[in-house]
Amino acid sequence: MAIQFRALAIIAGLTIHGIISSVEALPTTGLLDCLKGAQSSNGSFLNTATSQGYDQDRMNFGPIVDRRPIAIFHPDTVDEVAAAIKCAAMFNATIAPRSGGHSFTGYSLGGSDGALVIDVSRFQQFSLDPKTKIATVGAGMRLGPLYINLWNAGKYLVPGGSCPSVGVGGHALGGGLGPVGRKFGMLLHSIVSLTMVDGQGRVRHINATSEPELFWAMRGAGGGSFGLVTEFQFQAYKAPSKISTLFATYPVDSISPMDQYLKLIHAFGNWSKVAPEDATAVLIVNRDDVELMVTVIGSENKAKEVVNEYYKLAGKPMHTTWDEGSWYETAKLLALFEGGTLEMPLTPSSFYLAGHSLVYREPMSDKEISIISNSIHQALHLDGNTEGNTDGIYPYAMLEAWGGKIDNPASSSVFDHHHGVLYSVQYAFQWFASGNATKPGDQQCSDCLQASAQFGQEMQAAYSSGPVLEAYQNYIEQDIPNALWAYYGAANLPRLQQVKKNADPMNLFSFPHSIPLP
Ligand SMILES: Cc1cc2nc3c(=O)[nH]c(=O)nc-3n(C[C@H](O)[C@H](O)[C@H](O)COP(=O)(O)OP(=O)(O)OC[C@H]3O[C@@H](n4cnc5c(N)ncnc54)[C@H](O)[C@@H]3O)c2cc1C
Ligand SMILES: *[C@@H]1O[C@H](CO)[C@@H](O)[C@H](O)[C@H]1NC(C)=O
Ligand SMILES: *[C@@H]1O[C@H](CO)[C@@H](O)[C@H](O)[C@H]1NC(C)=O
Ligand SMILES: *[C@@H]1O[C@H](CO)[C@@H](O)[C@H](O)[C@H]1NC(C)=O
Ligand SMILES: *[C@@H]1O[C@H](CO)[C@@H](O)[C@H](O)[C@H]1NC(C)=O
Ligand SMILES: *[C@@H]1O[C@H](CO)[C@@H](O)[C@H](O)[C@H]1NC(C)=O
Repeated sequence: MAIQFRALAIIAGLTIHGIISSVEALPTTGLLDCLKGAQSSNGSFLNTATSQGYDQDRMNFGPIVDRRPIAIFHPDTVDEVAAAIKCAAMFNATIAPRSGGHSFTGYSLGGSDGALVIDVSRFQQFSLDPKTKIATVGAGMRLGPLYINLWNAGKYLVPGGSCPSVGVGGHALGGGLGPVGRKFGMLLHSIVSLTMVDGQGRVRHINATSEPELFWAMRGAGGGSFGLVTEFQFQAYKAPSKISTLFATYPVDSISPMDQYLKLIHAFGNWSKVAPEDATAVLIVNRDDVELMVTVIGSENKAKEVVNEYYKLAGKPMHTTWDEGSWYETAKLLALFEGGTLEMPLTPSSFYLAGHSLVYREPMSDKEISIISNSIHQALHLDGNTEGNTDGIYPYAMLEAWGGKIDNPASSSVFDHHHGVLYSVQYAFQWFASGNATKPGDQQCSDCLQASAQFGQEMQAAYSSGPVLEAYQNYIEQDIPNALWAYYGAANLPRLQQVKKNADPMNLFSFPHSIPLP
């Protein structure tokens, strides 16, 4: 590695002499040439601002985030990752790792323009050891293909989110909340070990015994702060033979929705406290209705008993749909938001999602629920909005029950600071542009963004669940006071900063809410 480093330095040195006539800034060209020199395989590639694929490549999940990295590198090998990180170190360039590109704030494109994105989507390896049931998984795999691979290896699963296009990398490092979470935990609880290239280009094999500090830090604070993960090992589980899923709809009186919202949301909190681990539930508060989605491990009859306990508190829904099937069928069913397929989905080009989120230890107060109600209903005026470029705006609040194995304080991870959380709430605006975006930032609805930001601010101001805001790092947002406390836990910060100093002393891996140096 040292030899390679020197060779790159020479390449970079030559470049610096050669670019005097170039219009680009001197260090920029040096970095790009260095990166070209870092490519040692045939499959890896580099997109820069002048590449044809650049705009498509900086389209994350939807076109909402318009950020311009200096380059997007797609390495094939751990050696190429290490070489690229050394280039960044040589030119003091900020690095943003990217797996599935689903960061709500686009932090996998950098926290501002000019970052070097290292995208691991070419790391797609998969194998499963039938003895230990440990799966080895490339960090660039998406959840859908991961679920397919595990199923095909002998009907296995790991717990995780239901959107198949979410990347394993960011998802596993921040948490990974999904339909069998209360039974099996967050995806991060399944991490047995991981391979990471740190801020000095060193390859680190991290597990509970060989790198205990990094192992603690990566699970809950690992996204974008210490290095780039290329591979995970997950403990897989034999999938339960039967899973039952309920979709229930409660109508809401659009003139005076508050009574219904109060009843359904309070009931959700009470029920989440007592529901069995086999059940995981989501409550989606919409303008015209409230949807309850419950996944229960077991038969439909068993599931009906579980759900009846909610009905006792909230009343019976207007409409219900039941589905009983294998884990694979259930995962496919729950992928309905992405077309009901677990195969590699398309990047949406007219879908916009602006989300904010907090987690709650105590049930939300009536005041907080009234803010949800008002924000959702006031957003009505944005339909066919002033800028004339949306085809409908869908504001909502989504409550997801935590507890069960999601709350696993013995995991010795940063994530343990969330011990005692009742549910997370995402309050978000979704909208569809009237045309397809051809590049990030197209068809932007600034009124929608502004209304969504205000929703977030009001919820933060009304937060009643604790003395400081607490939030889930996989639902990361930019404008949150004391973000490091909220996402990683105030008491964890000094220890995290020591890990940072060891792994990335130049602070190359940095974005607005990354772990700072001590
Ligand atoms: C449509 C949609 C549905 C979602 N559904 C769920 C859900 O059901 N449950 C849930 O818990 N969350 C969900 N999320 C949130 C999701 O878990 C997070 O956005 C997650 O961080 C995405 O991971 P990613 O790899 O796709 O994102 P990226 O944008 O690639 O990365 C997210 C963060 O992690 C860092 N990172 C990425 N890869 C690596 C790596 N290899 N090494 C080190 N750092 C890395 C990035 O720099 C960035 O800061 C959803 C998000 C969207 C947009
Ligand atoms: C790249 O391709 C060439 C020609 O096909 C082959 O000889 C070489 O081994 C390949 N190199 C790598 C690193 O795959
Ligand atoms: C590297 O860049 C950061 C800003 O991104 C700056 O604060 C720091 O001083 C720079 N370090 C060196 C050694 O130039
Ligand atoms: C951790 O990794 C080391 C070195 O790779 C290995 O010897 C050890 O068995 C691993 N420990 C666990 C708990 O997996
Ligand atoms: C449930 O808990 C709330 C507090 O969130 C309380 O006000 C309410 O009366 C409880 N009962 C029911 C039936 O939901
Ligand atoms: C946008 O793209 C989708 C999928 O490619 C296509 O079905 C749709 O017609 C397009 N819409 C517009 C307005 O171009």
